Amino acid sequence: MDTTVAVRGRGITKVFGDVVALDHVDVSMAKGQIHGLVGPNGAGKTTLLGLLLGLAVADQGTLEIFGAPVGRALAAPDGVSGFVDGPGLYPTLTAKQNLAALVALRHRDAPSTGVDEALEQVGLTAVADDKVRGFSLGMRQRLGLAAALLTKPRLLVLDEPANGLDPAGKKHVHGVLNRLAADGATVILSSHRMDDLEALCSEVTILSTGRVVFSGPLNKLSDENRELDYRLRVSNTADARTVAAGTPGVGIVEGSDTVARGDTEVIVVRGQVAAMDELVARIVRADIALRELAPVVSPLEAAFLALTEQTAEKPGERHTEQPAEKAEEKAAEKSAPATSQQEAGR
Ligand SMILES: Nc1ncnc2c1ncn2[C@@H]1O[C@H](COP(=O)(O)OP(=O)(O)O)[C@@H](O)[C@H]1O
Ligand SMILES: [Mg+2]
Repeated sequence: MDTTVAVRGRGITKVFGDVVALDHVDVSMAKGQIHGLVGPNGAGKTTLLGLLLGLAVADQGTLEIFGAPVGRALAAPDGVSGFVDGPGLYPTLTAKQNLAALVALRHRDAPSTGVDEALEQVGLTAVADDKVRGFSLGMRQRLGLAAALLTKPRLLVLDEPANGLDPAGKKHVHGVLNRLAADGATVILSSHRMDDLEALCSEVTILSTGRVVFSGPLNKLSDENRELDYRLRVSNTADARTVAAGTPGVGIVEGSDTVARGDTEVIVVRGQVAAMDELVARIVRADIALRELAPVVSPLEAAFLALTEQTAEKPGERHTEQPAEKAEEKAAEKSAPATSQQEAGR
């Protein structure tokens, strides 16, 4: 057994009716790391995280968590905590009562973080005695994270935790996850945007229509040879256009929707890094003031978009034939009640 690996999956396949949600997925996620699972809507992220939490069982393939095979029974493996599709919470109870209820359900001798401490870590101390009914999506996400922290998890699984978070909420969540990883826990979190994960993750797995299109360290993903769009803010756009048009490898993106209406100082140009270097030199030589040069989407987001667009097939292509009765069984398995998501946190 490889002691540096937290999660290893081989040939994982999960089918819902005629949709192949996961198609022979191989993954390996290192211990003590924050691993990002990225992909467009419908890529299979929630399905894969659900398998890790024991909310569903794969149709094919093997999945190991800390070297132990994940069984055929629907149950969260030991030391694994988290939620998919939003945390299950009781709306009529306060934040504190929700967590206290979870603590009461657990074995007395199980390791646990205190309720107050968990609330403090996610920045919800001030609303500890407020009913969850009035919480925003971001506050619910943070309370879900606090619930997962109660168990002192070895593996924390979070589905789209950045959804609905304001900058302060994001700061709290990032802080908690970084501390967990520093203490040796493994964190796996998903997002449909690469930018959400850039600051947090050292490694990512990119899923597209149920298949892994990239898995590895973030620095292997960006590619200087990829053409990117850049917003160029200058003192004189007419002159800058002329310079850009005359620079080899640089194109002007007309009618770009990343330019605010009426903003006459910005043009959007496209090219590789080397071509941009040359453009900057020429703009400065032409006595045009260069006030901003920034990629419209980050290089990693661009790599992600290129990879997922390349591999996205026409919807019909990933469908397989499945008997109807099996499809119903699968749908029932997925629609577990809210409490089973919390159960996964035990
Ligand atoms: N219970 C289910 N019944 C039928 N189809 C499902 C079910 N769960 C997921 N799917 C399908 O599987 C694919 C992957 O879904 P999901 O894992 O939720 O993607 P993601 O989380 O990346 O958006 C989608 O096409 C989705 O419609
Ligand atoms: Mg999802």
